[in-house]
Amino acid sequence: MRKTLLSVSLLVAGLSGTALPALAQAQGGTQATAQSATPMSSTASSGGAQATPSSTAASAEGKDLAPTLRRLGSEGSTSSSASLALPQDQAPFPNNQVSSAPFVSPNGGEEGLKASVRALQNTLTELQTLQLQTKQAHWNVSGPFFYPLHEQLDEQHTAWGKHADEVAERLLAIGVSSDGRATTIVQTSSLPEFPGGFVDDAEIVRWFTLAYKQVGEEVRGAILASEENDPQTSNILQEVEGSLDKYQWMMRAYVQSTPTDQRNGEILNQGKAIDIPANQAPMQLNMQTAQ
Ligand SMILES: [Fe+2]
Repeated sequence: MRKTLLSVSLLVAGLSGTALPALAQAQGGTQATAQSATPMSSTASSGGAQATPSSTAASAEGKDLAPTLRRLGSEGSTSSSASLALPQDQAPFPNNQVSSAPFVSPNGGEEGLKASVRALQNTLTELQTLQLQTKQAHWNVSGPFFYPLHEQLDEQHTAWGKHADEVAERLLAIGVSSDGRATTIVQTSSLPEFPGGFVDDAEIVRWFTLAYKQVGEEVRGAILASEENDPQTSNILQEVEGSLDKYQWMMRAYVQSTPTDQRNGEILNQGKAIDIPANQAPMQLNMQTAQ
């Protein structure tokens, strides 16, 4: 059995390269877009990812309508947001519909509601992605740090599930349906697909250090976008950000150097330092796989 170096960047670049343009449009004008999408986009480009025809179409559509709002405002709505009605056939994902019954809406009228829906739906999608990825990692993590990571990842999976439920139900509270479908997650998350197979403990640490940082920046932008007109939504998102910050620290702590030990995760990685540049995306993982 020999060891070979397998770059997973190409495996995941296709997803991230297609999802990011749509996400960037969905976040349009928010601080989160500039902060979170740039590192991933540039990495996808450098990895030579090519957009598929369908992704190109999705990007073009995103120029006109934010994906999270493509179905906002269902036909026949009698609410004050009926003017939000958008063509139903422009894109299938996500599907957020406004209730036809009276509901409590954020301040700021149509724009205030749109801002809250963008903030909540995008956060929901990222939380569901993290749910899937932490459980996948919980099962497949391998190496000397199997047990602490196995336990921590299960705790984090539980946390993302609780936050996702709170975020999804806040959408319902402001009169809008939430979209947690698998296809919506795949097509709109900014995170690349998690690698299959056994995954080295060091790579797990690097993956979630970067993924939590990225999603944390997205959620911070969502907080800023909603805090003026919808403080309750902003408060819920602040709780999400608190967990992201906490678990990002718990992953980062495995590899950060100290004044007395500059080896930076050496013990996890077969005597080699683990380098985590500030803007490196998870998709750049290089994995040691057995063949
Ligand atoms: Fe388990």
